[in-house]
Amino acid sequence: MGRPVIIDTDPGVDDAMAILMALASPELEVLALTTIFGNAATDRTTRNALTILETAGRTDIPVSAGAVDPIAVPFKGPVPFVHGENGLGGTRTISPTTEVTQALAAETIYTLASDRPGEVTLLALGPLTNLAVALDAHPDLIDLVDEVVVMGGNALVPGNATPVAEANINNDPEAADAVFGAGWPITMVGLDVTHQVNLPGAVIDTITAASNPGARLLAEAIPLYRAFFEATNNIDGIYVHDPSTVAYLLEPDIFTTDHWPVRVETESFSRGKTWPNMGDTDDAAPPAWRGRPVVNVCTGVNGDRVVELLADRLTKGG
Ligand code: BDR
Ligand code: CA
Repeated sequence: MGRPVIIDTDPGVDDAMAILMALASPELEVLALTTIFGNAATDRTTRNALTILETAGRTDIPVSAGAVDPIAVPFKGPVPFVHGENGLGGTRTISPTTEVTQALAAETIYTLASDRPGEVTLLALGPLTNLAVALDAHPDLIDLVDEVVVMGGNALVPGNATPVAEANINNDPEAADAVFGAGWPITMVGLDVTHQVNLPGAVIDTITAASNPGARLLAEAIPLYRAFFEATNNIDGIYVHDPSTVAYLLEPDIFTTDHWPVRVETESFSRGKTWPNMGDTDDAAPPAWRGRPVVNVCTGVNGDRVVELLADRLTKGG
């Protein structure tokens, strides 16, 4: 069996790509999907998660619904201009036939991590509310997981939700500050690297022409997302934020990392900005960072290899 992973997710077009990539990777064993608001409201991302698993023929994997609002404020609302009215790039009603587990996301995370102490990786592809709720209820969770890998944040580059903040972190800065400060082994796969990974139009065309059921779903989901990137970022193709975290799990050596404590701004116009302390540590650190644990922050990536891995996994089978 591969490395056991729980995927906390807000599908979401690039979430769908990441989930399908993980399912097609024998190096990974997906234990559960837990859902969160972000690209759409939680009821919708939950239906999308169920639909993705049904499409892939993996209804053996449980789905647990997560928080519907961030810790401190109400959910800002969906982004249909990026991810479509249904959160999967279209307007068709998504009606899965399977159902969620009774347990909520945070409890599922804790239970599965407790079942296999030291083995489970949490892959977070959306706002970090479920992880923060789980930590608050079960502080010993930090000793139970193998690694936390987060798609989110921007250490040294601009934001995408605001001029300074990345979307997942911006959707719940209080949760993100708790998760980066918890003291567990944590890797940040943020815009510093995901804006270096462009899946070119020609490769998108290859993926969406593949015959496996996941690729057929992506053929429906990707066009609107692609048009958004082409219009706003002036690129031929799309940035593959969430799939880059799966590539990190498969081949961490294609990323370069720095080790900095990270705080998340919760105030004012720079709310949601992830701030690394690149200077003094320990007692000489500025008070806001003093005593904060170090985060493994991805700052470089072999983008061509991420594209190659993604294309390989998404075109398999059928
Ligand atoms: C992140 O925000 C969401 O829109 C994407 O799914 C990704 O997780 C990128 O900033
Ligand atoms: Ca996401």
